[in-house]
Amino acid sequence: MNKKYMLLIGLIAAALLLSFWIKQTPQHSMPRAGKIEQGASIVDVILPAALSKNAKTGEAIFNVKCAACHGSNAAGKNGMGPPLIHKIYEPSHHGDFAFLSAARNGVQSHHWPFGNMPIITGLTDGDIKSIVFYIRVVQRENGIN
Ligand code: HEC
Repeated sequence: MNKKYMLLIGLIAAALLLSFWIKQTPQHSMPRAGKIEQGASIVDVILPAALSKNAKTGEAIFNVKCAACHGSNAAGKNGMGPPLIHKIYEPSHHGDFAFLSAARNGVQSHHWPFGNMPIITGLTDGDIKSIVFYIRVVQRENGIN
């Protein structure tokens, strides 16, 4: 067998191994938002028939401080911020502390292709608790709990 032939077989084997390895490597679990228009909501949110007074307080603060990126009703805004009414943000995966931390420290992008979330100023712990209360009410209405 001549050297050229050996080299060719070696290259083919390497290519096969590489393609196998690429297939086996799990893709980062980023939900796909590619087909949705920029700025449009990312999920359909079912709203509760009525919001309690506490939930309304949270909604009002959310609308001022978070909706610019997370969308009305936290349905997400493509290109800006993810929907918080999403299984990723269910209480067992993103507990209430994750919301406090997100506002206080910002968030390094890791689930979505929208960049980092900045620190959100001008919120008391009580304000953030109200936001979480509101988000959880809407999450439950959408079967996320
Ligand atoms: C300037 C845009 C912007 C604003 C304003 C904003 N967020 Fe975010 N937020 C993001 C982005 C983008 C992400 C997704 C990061 C990623 O890729 O995981 C995010 C992620 C989060 C997360 C998930 C954190 C984690 O641990 O993964 C929470 C909770 C959150 N935001 C809550 C809030 C709340 C509450 C407010 C309002 C007080 C708010 N955000 C305002 C852009 C924003």
